[in-house]
Amino acid sequence: MAIERTFSIIKPDATAANKTGAINALIEAAGLRIIAQRRIQMTKQQAGRFYAVHSERPFYGELVNFMISGPVVVQVLEGENAVATYREVMGATNPVDAAEGTIRKLFAKSVGENSAHGSDATETADEEIPQFFSLADITG
Ligand code: RTP
Ligand code: MG
Repeated sequence: MAIERTFSIIKPDATAANKTGAINALIEAAGLRIIAQRRIQMTKQQAGRFYAVHSERPFYGELVNFMISGPVVVQVLEGENAVATYREVMGATNPVDAAEGTIRKLFAKSVGENSAHGSDATETADEEIPQFFSLADITG
């Protein structure tokens, strides 16, 4: 199995609920290492660019406004099959469909306010990570 890196965001609903540590514990319990981490207030421009792939979707404006509604924790995770492993840890996009024990089942309020982001492919991670971290910020 390949060692990969993936990009994670602990979203504003989860930071507001003080669940950063609880989410990090689930990440680490799955064997993923948090090799970079920073708590930030995203700008509208950052959030808009980050989710630009969804710019034609009806929920885009709501999504961008949610992502800037409070602090987020941006992270780089490393481990075996990190992309797929983290998406398993997060659970389905809609918490109603998420498996027991996943971040979204445990903490998400709705499909919009769903506690965590994880890259959907290694190529996506390679585009997302440099939006928030320079190479010098990442120590694997
Ligand atoms: P993410 O990109 O945040 O990791 O989530 P995902 O891959 O599981 O889902 P994606 O289809 O990429 O959607 C991105 C985010 O948009 C919000 N969303 N809202 N109101 C809605 O129907 C709706 N659908 C999606 C969610 O915050 C989702 O995580
Ligand atoms: Mg996605």
